[in-house]
Amino acid sequence: MIERIDELLVEVEQFSSSAKEEIEQFRIKFNGKKGVLNDFFEKFKEVPNDQKKDFGQKINSLKQAVAAKLEDLKNASEGQSNIIKDDLTKPAFPLELGTRHPINLVKNRIIEIFRSIGFAIADGPEIEDDWHNFTALNLPEYHPARDMQDTFFIDTNPDTLLRTHTSSVQVRYMEENQPPIRILSPGRVFRNEAISSRSHCIFHQIEGLYIDENVSFADLKQTIQYFTTELFGKSKIRMRPSYFPFTEPSAEVDVYWGLNSETDYRITKGTGWLEIMGCGMVDPAVLKNVNIDADKYSGFAFGMGIERIVMLLYQMSDIRMFFENDVRMLNQFKSL
Ligand code: DAH
Repeated sequence: MIERIDELLVEVEQFSSSAKEEIEQFRIKFNGKKGVLNDFFEKFKEVPNDQKKDFGQKINSLKQAVAAKLEDLKNASEGQSNIIKDDLTKPAFPLELGTRHPINLVKNRIIEIFRSIGFAIADGPEIEDDWHNFTALNLPEYHPARDMQDTFFIDTNPDTLLRTHTSSVQVRYMEENQPPIRILSPGRVFRNEAISSRSHCIFHQIEGLYIDENVSFADLKQTIQYFTTELFGKSKIRMRPSYFPFTEPSAEVDVYWGLNSETDYRITKGTGWLEIMGCGMVDPAVLKNVNIDADKYSGFAFGMGIERIVMLLYQMSDIRMFFENDVRMLNQFKSL
């Protein structure tokens, strides 16, 4: 008899149905007047005394299992009937549209522009070593230009750090690939700087690199001009001599923004010109560091901060907004 109860226990366990009649049949089979449980209680009287305890416990567990199962089925069917009670003709909840972060919007736009002239994307790690972030880029130890970029060090032996610029990806890519090379490397960079409305310790850059035979400064200028025309609708640019250890000659690029409004005056400090990136011809010393034949190949590189460009395009005045992710700011980019 104990075995029979065990079988019934399994049956109860496994029973499942959402049909009312089936559930009612199940209830009658077990709990009905002539049901299984009453039948067992009836037989209980005839069980020899020494077996009464075991048998009693078994029947009780079956009784509890049936009660629990009925309770479950009742809850499940109530849940269902609630849905049915709802007005099915009601309009559905509106689907909230997500927003792209303005940094990503502009990054994607820049990628698109350079992709259309043959640049591919190359990625690199945010945690870098000294070689890729500094030394290979012609910034040997103790070089004073290292001070241009306040670095977050993770470890000092060997040096591990958060990359201070995306130029590190140039080195990684050239180590693995021979020219022709045409890449764009967007990414996050880190500098130990005081946070203010104009600067942050985390920001984004896009690095470009083009290496081939006979690449000239004129190619660089033409490429940048194509870019500013596509992104800003402005083709008037100027290149001011500058210094970067990894390029020779080096330049800073200004776009002629114009002086058509109060804002133009303010953001260009009354000059009409806006600085947007650094660039130059890749120093042959850098090519040697990555085993590219500097007599055969030459090339240019450029690097720009994305936040700066977003702030320009959308007239935003505080760089900290990009990292606070206030939905009131983000929602303004919904349709873009
Ligand atoms: N890495 C520079 C910086 O973070 C930007 C830069 C300047 C990148 C000139 C270049 C370049 O590739 O040619 O300030």
